[in-house]
Amino acid sequence: PEKRLTNEDLAQMVDTNDEWITQRTGIKERRIAAENESTATLAVQAGRRAIESAGLKPDDIDLVIVATITPEMMFPSTACTVAYQLGCVGKAAFDLSAACTGFVYALHTASAFVRSGQFQNVLIIGAETLSRVTDYTDRASCIIFGDGAGAVVVSRSKEPNTGLLYGQIHSDGGPLSEAMLLKPGSRHPITQELLACRDQYMKIKGREVYKFAVSKFEELIRDAMTVCELTPQTLSLIIPHQVNQRIIDSAMEKLALPSEKAYVNIDRYGNTSAASIPIALDEAFRAGRIRKGDHVIFVAFGGGLTWGNAVVRM
Ligand code: UT7
Repeated sequence: PEKRLTNEDLAQMVDTNDEWITQRTGIKERRIAAENESTATLAVQAGRRAIESAGLKPDDIDLVIVATITPEMMFPSTACTVAYQLGCVGKAAFDLSAACTGFVYALHTASAFVRSGQFQNVLIIGAETLSRVTDYTDRASCIIFGDGAGAVVVSRSKEPNTGLLYGQIHSDGGPLSEAMLLKPGSRHPITQELLACRDQYMKIKGREVYKFAVSKFEELIRDAMTVCELTPQTLSLIIPHQVNQRIIDSAMEKLALPSEKAYVNIDRYGNTSAASIPIALDEAFRAGRIRKGDHVIFVAFGGGLTWGNAVVRM
């Protein structure tokens, strides 16, 4: 979306300031969906551009996966309306909910469908309108999130040793599963009491998530590099979920990797959950940071908890 919400804007809304937000998160501004925009409208824009960039027509797409935690509505799935609006008529479509790990989960899912021979081209879209579930009276969370969408097409290739080379996805629904929470649902239907507690908005426990994220990022990058025998020289780029500049910096430092090996754009978009990796991927491509043959690592963790990595040779 075009609309920007800066740190200065937030300082007018809650007790915060640009210095605190910049130092603790690296975020300077985020994008916010306009009234006439929604997860589906952002997803359609990103999906259309991805299909065009891949040199395909909508009819060539066999499956549309929308990774999101801010779906258009509870049901039907956002993917159904997005596939329809893109002109992927009659094609398979479903949503995938893995919070900030949504894009990595979707990449593994798409790859499995392509490898099995069932589908030739799968469109994956990470799309979020987190502003719709953000409590703009809660300074602990409202500074973090932004809206956006990014998309890729995963296709069957005859070239050996390209595409998704390796990766793993995980979950843990134990105690930390409530560290990031949006209550309305079958366990907590919407009631006056729920609304009075502002539980229609996302709640986060930033500290707990922070500690988990730092160790997971380090572990997932190390695992990807070890299994694929990548060195700081042969690894082209890491595209991490844009969670917090400090979390990314700390993992890179522990791995003794130069900070420029991680692509970071959190300063301009904040945390856009499932959309953050595909948005960063698109920017990295356009900036010439990724070329054919490069090894790129995607790494993410998020609500659920969920986490995963993926090594892709472009
Ligand atoms: O993608 C997954 C979802 N993401 C997350 O769940 C976020 C992960 N966590 C984080 O990114 C960081 O933990 C935060 C950015 C949320 C918070 O940074 P922190 O360094 O962990 O700060 P903190 O929560 O420990 O708070 C430090 C202080 C507190 O004051 P006291 O108790 O030390 O007096 C907070 O009340 O900063 C205060 N604080 C703020 N001050 C100014 C909290 N939020 C703000 C704010 N502006 N927006």
